[in-house]
Amino acid sequence: MLKIDILTIFPELFGPFLETAFVALARRQGAATVAAHDLRGWAQDRHRSVDDTPYGGGPGMVMTPEPLIPAIEALAGAKGPDRKTRVVCLTPQGQPLTQRKLAAMAAGPPLLLVCGRYEGLDQRILDLAIDEEVSIGDYVLSGGEVPAMALIEGIVRLLPGVLGNPRSIQTESFQGGALLEGPQYTRPPIYRGLSVPEILRSGDHAAIDEWRRKNAHTRTRERRPDLLARADSETAADPIE
Ligand code: 6GU
Repeated sequence: MLKIDILTIFPELFGPFLETAFVALARRQGAATVAAHDLRGWAQDRHRSVDDTPYGGGPGMVMTPEPLIPAIEALAGAKGPDRKTRVVCLTPQGQPLTQRKLAAMAAGPPLLLVCGRYEGLDQRILDLAIDEEVSIGDYVLSGGEVPAMALIEGIVRLLPGVLGNPRSIQTESFQGGALLEGPQYTRPPIYRGLSVPEILRSGDHAAIDEWRRKNAHTRTRERRPDLLARADSETAADPIE
C-alpha cells in the first residue's frame, strides 16, 4: 500500500482525478491512498496568505516558508534520518521525470508531493523540508498540480495488481528497452479506405512480432533518435527506463 499525500493551494483540482480510472481503482483495491491537502489550512494570518514579494525585486510572488514548512512537517515529519516520507516538490527547476524515477517511487516510501505555485519557493523551504525536486519537461506551467497528477498516474499504474494485464506494461514504450510503440490497429479491417496491414491479420505470430519490432525501430529513429542513442550507450542488463 503506497501512501501519497499532496500539498496544494488548489485541492479541488484533484477531485475527479482521484475518482476516475486507474487512480480510483488503485485506491479502491487498497494499492494506494491518495489525499490532497489545502496549504491554506496552515496559513496563520487573516488573509490566509501563502506567498510574498521576492527579495531583490522582480515579477511575481514567492511561496513563503510559513505556512509551507509547518504543513510539510505536519504531513511528513521534520526532515532528517527519522523521516519515513519522501518529500518531492514539483517545479520546472527539478530533475526530469523518467520511467525509472516512477518505478523507484512506486516501490519506495510514502510520498508527499508539494505543488509549487507563483514564481517559485523560498530557497529555505527546499533546504529545510524538501528531499527532491522534479520537473515533467522543458516548458512552463503555472503550478505543480498537473505535474503531480502526471506523477501519480505514472506511479499508480506500476503498483502490483492494479493494471489488469501486467504484460502490457512489459511491452510498452520506455520499459525494458527504449523504443516507441509502432502503429496499432483494431476493427474494422477497412476504414475510409485505409486497411489494416495484412500481416497483423495473418495469425503468424513470429512474423507479427518481427513487423512490430521493425516498425517500433523505424518510428523511434524518425521521431526520437535521442532514445536510440541512449539505448546504445547503456548495457542490455540495464534498460534505460
Ligand atoms: Cl513540475 N511545474 C511547473 N510549474 N511547470 C513545469 C513543471 C513543473 N514541469 C514542467 N513544467
